[in-house]
Amino acid sequence: NWNMENFIADQIELIKQQVGDKKVLLALSGGVDSSVVAALLIRAIGKNLVCVHVNHGLMRKGESESVVEVFQNQLNANLIYVDASDRFLDKLKGVSDPEEKRKIIGGEFIRVFEEEAGKLDGIDYLAQGTIYPDIVESGTKTAKTVKSHHNVGGLPEDMQFALIEPLKQLFKDEVRACGLALGLPESMVYRQPFPGPGLGVRCLGAITRERLEAVRDSDAILREEFHNEGLDKCVWQYFTVVPDFQSVGVRDNARTFEYPVILRAVNTVDAMTATIEEIPWPVLHKITERIINEVAGVNRVCYDLTPKPTGTIEWE
Ligand code: XMP
Repeated sequence: NWNMENFIADQIELIKQQVGDKKVLLALSGGVDSSVVAALLIRAIGKNLVCVHVNHGLMRKGESESVVEVFQNQLNANLIYVDASDRFLDKLKGVSDPEEKRKIIGGEFIRVFEEEAGKLDGIDYLAQGTIYPDIVESGTKTAKTVKSHHNVGGLPEDMQFALIEPLKQLFKDEVRACGLALGLPESMVYRQPFPGPGLGVRCLGAITRERLEAVRDSDAILREEFHNEGLDKCVWQYFTVVPDFQSVGVRDNARTFEYPVILRAVNTVDAMTATIEEIPWPVLHKITERIINEVAGVNRVCYDLTPKPTGTIEWE
């Protein structure tokens, strides 16, 4: 009979048989799927799993640090941490088109990962966090692509590795249960969806370090307050956006000319349509108060009331 303990035990046995004492490579983003695959493979083959975490500089506050803390320090994983922030930001300098930004981030990610893989000896397998809906959706997708986001096939096809995809029969809730059973923290297992290009598509237009930090800092405040209010449990995705224009404001009797922060909080079943979550006014006030006082270069906070359609969930 099927239960999570049996599933985990079976997968560990299968992986051990398939891999033997060979090495497996995994791109560990810190997302739910790759984290659960990592935890499962660590159980099965320990240090013969080589995890590569690429920090593209567009991660949320504390996110790369928590990947290192959980996998390197707590689970004793064989983790290679690559801080490629400067490299990504250099490539993105002056690029304002959203799809062009996505292409640069995706392409650069593959190059950094390949470079790291090239430095390693004796890797025979590549593990991926493919889950059942990934396979179904990529096989039947008929809707016109609005944005070029895909997690499947995100890595180069010419990589000479056999694939290991132990989660490919699981639905998302089963993946989460698997992660919990393997001892991953709830914050990682119930993480809200986060796009591959990260904060890069929330720092609108051509990315600057100043606005990128404003997105990161305001996002951290929003997440903290949502967590305090328990809203993180009932809102599907919530984040901040910083546009590339400024507005006039006043602070301490002096004129300011600074950026706005836009708050967005949506609920959805499949991300194809989305509704706006009603956030209590006092919570919005508190978040606004904190952002205008704590985030450098920001003098205004707006709340996005647009459902999908007509707005997409992300602004780019
Ligand atoms: P949109 O903005 O198209 O987003 O309504 C729907 C869902 O997809 C996420 N998203 C992405 N995920 N790479 C990703 O991995 C991307 O380029 C990307 N763009 C959007 C978005 O966060 C939402 O959950």
